[in-house]
Amino acid sequence: MSFTFTVFKGDKSGAPKKSTTTKPDKLSGDSVLLKVTASGLCGTDLHYRKDDGMVLGHEGVGVVEATGPLCKVLKKGDRVGWGYEHDSCGHCHQCLTGAETYCPERALYVYANRDQGSFASHAIWREAFLFKIPDAISDADAAPLMCGGATVFNALNAYSALPTETVGVMGVGGLGHLAIQFAAKMGCRVIVISSTESKKEEAMRLGAHEFVATKGQTELKVSHPLDRLLVTTSGQPDWAQLVPILAPGATIHPLSVDGGNFSIPYLPLIAVPITVQGSIVAPRYIQKRMLEFAALHQIRPVLEIFPMTEAGIVEAMDKLEKGQIHFRAVLVPQ
Ligand SMILES: NC(=O)c1ccc[n+]([C@@H]2O[C@H](COP(=O)([O-])OP(=O)(O)OC[C@H]3O[C@@H](n4cnc5c(N)ncnc54)[C@H](OP(=O)(O)O)[C@@H]3O)[C@@H](O)[C@H]2O)c1
Ligand SMILES: [Zn+2]
Ligand SMILES: [Zn+2]
Repeated sequence: MSFTFTVFKGDKSGAPKKSTTTKPDKLSGDSVLLKVTASGLCGTDLHYRKDDGMVLGHEGVGVVEATGPLCKVLKKGDRVGWGYEHDSCGHCHQCLTGAETYCPERALYVYANRDQGSFASHAIWREAFLFKIPDAISDADAAPLMCGGATVFNALNAYSALPTETVGVMGVGGLGHLAIQFAAKMGCRVIVISSTESKKEEAMRLGAHEFVATKGQTELKVSHPLDRLLVTTSGQPDWAQLVPILAPGATIHPLSVDGGNFSIPYLPLIAVPITVQGSIVAPRYIQKRMLEFAALHQIRPVLEIFPMTEAGIVEAMDKLEKGQIHFRAVLVPQ
């Protein structure tokens, strides 16, 4: 016997297509069947829009419908979310030290289980990689936290941001508008760097203390040099323009997914000095902390809701590509 559910796949035409995935209807091990209730649309999904046959979406939230024989925590009716990673080996050094996002056998969106995603009616994932959603956070609000929120919280939390720091957030999109809120609630001074003035008011409302627009500027001016800079733009920025506003000992977290090389003036790396610390998403213990922190401090994404249909997905992706989403698109099954 088998179980068939709806999924939406990338398509070479650029218009994702409704399709189906079939799984055995008997759940094995610690696998969990869930019904999707909301999915965020992350900037990374745009890279796979034309990836034929790849099921899209990795900011999923749903309700547990059934649990496998080895499940210990979840039960029918629980609200859960999942993100970019959905399995790892469990026994390597990275897994044993809470860094399973770097496990050599990690199972990530795009690279593993391409027949499942969060643009779907259902999904089956391991209990160990599902996260209970706090009661205070709605399904739609939780979805963007599963990748976007986790990624920016991880940069701050895993690399020990202090409340005394000045944190720069570059790019006010899905990731950036959450980074502003997390850093502000952690007590940091938050300086936002955005391409134009247009998002200033909203950035300040979300907790920013200062706002700098880069358009037409050769030299950037900030009241306090940045101890840490989270770069959440959809492409790499002009790194040379950013170096002069970094504090001695600053850390840059490049979070953008971009195919090019990292090119930065070399001497400041030594003389300022600068640390460059990349990272992807968040290991599970940090993802859990992030959800608790967001619930406690009322951190909520600013959403645009679209129907989870072929037309709704195309509309949301077109808007995201044009930089017109304010600030995270969430797809809701019809
Ligand atoms: N490292 C990770 O684990 C991880 C996880 C998730 C996503 N990502 C990556 O993070 C990036 C941001 O994702 P997102 O979902 O936040 O995307 P997004 O909502 O599109 O936000 C990106 C922001 O970048 C700025 N921007 C727009 N067009 C740009 C361009 N052509 N060049 C440079 N900047 C531009 C805009 O901010 P302003 O208007 O303020 O300038 C925009 O709001 C993407 O590259 C995504 O793939 C990485
Ligand atoms: Zn993502
Ligand atoms: Zn491992």
